[in-house]
Amino acid sequence: MSKPYSLLFSALLLCCATLAQAQPLPTAAAIASPHAQATAAGQKVLSEGGNAFDAAIAISAALAVVEPYASGLGGGGYFLLRQAGTPVSYRFIDAREKAPMAARGDMYLRDGKEVPGLSTTGALASGIPGLPAALVELAAHYGALPLKDSLAPAIRLANKGFAVDRVYRAWATARLAAMRDDPETARLFLRNGEVPDIGEVLRQPELAQTLTLIAEKGHDGYYKGATAQALVKAVQAGGGIWTLKDLADYQVATRAPLRFALADQRELITTPPPSAGGVALAQSLAMLQQLPWQQAEPVQRVHYVVEVLRRAYRDRSQLGDPDFVNNPIKALLAPDYLKTLGAGIDPRQATPSAALPPAPASHEGEHTTHFTVLDNQGNAVAATLSVNLPFGSAFTAAGTGVVLNDEMDDFAADPHGSNAYGLAGSQANAVAPGKRPLSSMSPSFIESPTQFASFGTPGGSRIPSMVLLSMLQYLDGQPVPTWPAVPRYHHQYLPDVVEYEPGAFTAPQLAELKARGYSLKETGRAYGNQQVLLWHKDDGQVEAASDPRGVGVSEVMPRQ
Ligand code: DON
Repeated sequence: MSKPYSLLFSALLLCCATLAQAQPLPTAAAIASPHAQATAAGQKVLSEGGNAFDAAIAISAALAVVEPYASGLGGGGYFLLRQAGTPVSYRFIDAREKAPMAARGDMYLRDGKEVPGLSTTGALASGIPGLPAALVELAAHYGALPLKDSLAPAIRLANKGFAVDRVYRAWATARLAAMRDDPETARLFLRNGEVPDIGEVLRQPELAQTLTLIAEKGHDGYYKGATAQALVKAVQAGGGIWTLKDLADYQVATRAPLRFALADQRELITTPPPSAGGVALAQSLAMLQQLPWQQAEPVQRVHYVVEVLRRAYRDRSQLGDPDFVNNPIKALLAPDYLKTLGAGIDPRQATPSAALPPAPASHEGEHTTHFTVLDNQGNAVAATLSVNLPFGSAFTAAGTGVVLNDEMDDFAADPHGSNAYGLAGSQANAVAPGKRPLSSMSPSFIESPTQFASFGTPGGSRIPSMVLLSMLQYLDGQPVPTWPAVPRYHHQYLPDVVEYEPGAFTAPQLAELKARGYSLKETGRAYGNQQVLLWHKDDGQVEAASDPRGVGVSEVMPRQ
């Protein structure tokens, strides 16, 4: 090589080395998902040369098969993406269900009163699903493999069948009455009208066929043609209002994630509306940064966290689908406002929610799922997917294997805005044609120059408080397995109660919290199913953990 060229070459090498230093790679890929078969599907696709986005497709589709109670082709969700590169970019794929065009603000009311069950069970409860469109979007714009390769493990799984486990049994038991009411749901997911035994194998050939049509035809494989026709026919026969046009028109929305600077060069990357979770997390972390929570003894720390949650959840009612309402995010995250909120916290006594300016409460559903994946290039996904209540609306569209969501229940059913607490209602989240209901789902990252951490869980309105508790474990330097394991407590402004998992507090701690003015209520059972991972960017090490409350499996796969 002649001298000028060799100089140029050295300069290039140096530049590459600098870039490599700025963009260190993980020494392993990692997956944390709530089901062994979903983790295995993601691993398979990674081993075939897929990236984190292909793995996310495989995991989502596998979860649609093995967790019919939590998410699926009849539901929707949020995908938070980290795209490696210089600079790194983040995307938020909003695959939340949309209200059908025939939806009306008063569709769940009779004589001005909400009809129990109408927005939760049966075909009228379902929004237009978003998950199939998200899978197609991920493959088209982010993945390295064709969609059919990423969907292959789920198609095999649906044909071959999966074994019922304790989590399946728990959710089917919770939803048994509604499942029995729909013959197709009962045929596929019950045995002689009863919850199947552990180990019983459930096959879903119709779902395999629907997945195959998506694999072959992409968006049209679900939103047009035979699948769309079968869905609309079943929904209309079941009293629902979907049309072929509703399906054909469904598109995911790609939005900018909410980004919020934290102390110590950290950044929170989280969900913008129509999730209310991201704003609540940013507000909570900002308030906690003003308080000595890290040095506080346990009860004092709970006190700070509860007061912060109370204030953050109060602001939730101002939010709605950004395609329909103006969300006051700037105002809610303004430094002066957050300072005032934090300064209003009495360090010794509970602030009664009634003493804060009023805002409406929300009510949300009970089932959903979450997973996270990182590939060895530094691409990552955190995804929370849902059909809302366990087994969604408990309505399965005959011939498709698709269990429909009851996500319409996440709207404020009463358009005039009064709620169970008699407070001004959430007009921002009223039902409207083509609108997406407000959600608590909060897949989130915290990234700094030296670390990348991923968080998320199902759990309805408790999602943001669960994610916050995990983030505090992280910020406190606690080991990764403790992030999902940490005992949980929750406050959502209204009702003005601290809910807590059995065993979360000792008797003396409960007594002290009571003395500070808190009402406390044990939840009766553990809740949530958090999946997390951490990439140490300085040495490339990767860790992942699944919630010990569930049957999830996390795997770290060192670079070959
Ligand atoms: O979007 C929401 O906020 C709810 N539909 C999520 C429901 C949920 O997480 C239930 N999980 N167990």
